[in-house]
Amino acid sequence: MIDGKKVLFSGMQSTGNLTLGNYLGALKNWVSLSDEYECFYSVVDLHSITVRQDPAELRKRARALLTLYIAAGLDPEKNCIYYQSHVSAHAELSWILNCFTYMGELNRMTQFKDKAAKHADNINAGLFTYPVLMAADILLYQADVVPVGKDQLQHLEITRDIAQRFNGIYGDVFTVPEPYIGKAGAKIMSLQDPSKKMSKSDENTNASIYLMDDPDTIIRKFKRAVTDSEGQIVYREEQPGIRNLIDIYSACTGKTPEQVEAEFAGKGYGEFKMAVGEAVVDVLKPLQDRFHDLSQNKDYIDSVIKNNAEKASYYANKTLRKVQKKVGFPEKVR
Ligand code: TRP
Repeated sequence: MIDGKKVLFSGMQSTGNLTLGNYLGALKNWVSLSDEYECFYSVVDLHSITVRQDPAELRKRARALLTLYIAAGLDPEKNCIYYQSHVSAHAELSWILNCFTYMGELNRMTQFKDKAAKHADNINAGLFTYPVLMAADILLYQADVVPVGKDQLQHLEITRDIAQRFNGIYGDVFTVPEPYIGKAGAKIMSLQDPSKKMSKSDENTNASIYLMDDPDTIIRKFKRAVTDSEGQIVYREEQPGIRNLIDIYSACTGKTPEQVEAEFAGKGYGEFKMAVGEAVVDVLKPLQDRFHDLSQNKDYIDSVIKNNAEKASYYANKTLRKVQKKVGFPEKVR
């Protein structure tokens, strides 16, 4: 608890361009959470280097992601948006937790197996202990809830196991976090294969709308979106492409799927796709404008980075000191 509020922690990698799916499915819904929770959103650059990165590119993308959060409406006075690498407690707690995590547990992680297969030339120890660093992220802030996608649930589970193991030995040191299952954001599918989630790592760039796509690109991608030959705009499982477009239109306009069906009854796919494209442009254009304005304002972004790193460090170090004492490290002489 911080100031009577439960704590929420989430981390994001800055690799890859965020998509409309990330925005409508997650980011957009986070904005309202700061009323209920004390929120920490970390740009997890320590995690990013578990696969090779171009340094200049990594730095640029990390800043862009942080700026994008603010552009999307996360108020940096109310949400602690910071770089993981600016708070050294993450690395320090991670080391300690490494000593409370079993090889066998880490061996079962499906993301490790997937990434090891994908980067067979660089299966480094950091990739293996990635979930321990993630546990450190969460436990440092005594987070009660962690909004994560399905792909990260296994990592949250190991975080809980590590916390419980540590608490079992040393007493109640860590809050055991729960996954945050909030009002589900829209699940947005690929425009080229509506059986797959829209993903920032999709090789087919026509499959995803990136948050920084210009209006012409957005409209063009919707024109090319895969539909079907049914010829009617109905929200049903048999028409996954159309259903996805209805979901996108609903999320952008606030209309229900039934209202969308009624609005486009008897109309053609071409007209509907244009309308969806325009609705998306209407949502993304203001976000892009804010992003560009903020990007110009170097001093402001720098001050957010500095102040929030200090705030994060304060809470993180409180937990770290407690842990160091518990495991038996000598107190510093002042
Ligand atoms: N591993 C997460 C991902 O790739 C990112 C992450 C790092 C994270 N630390 C976290 C998510 C802590 C939630 C909580 O999506």
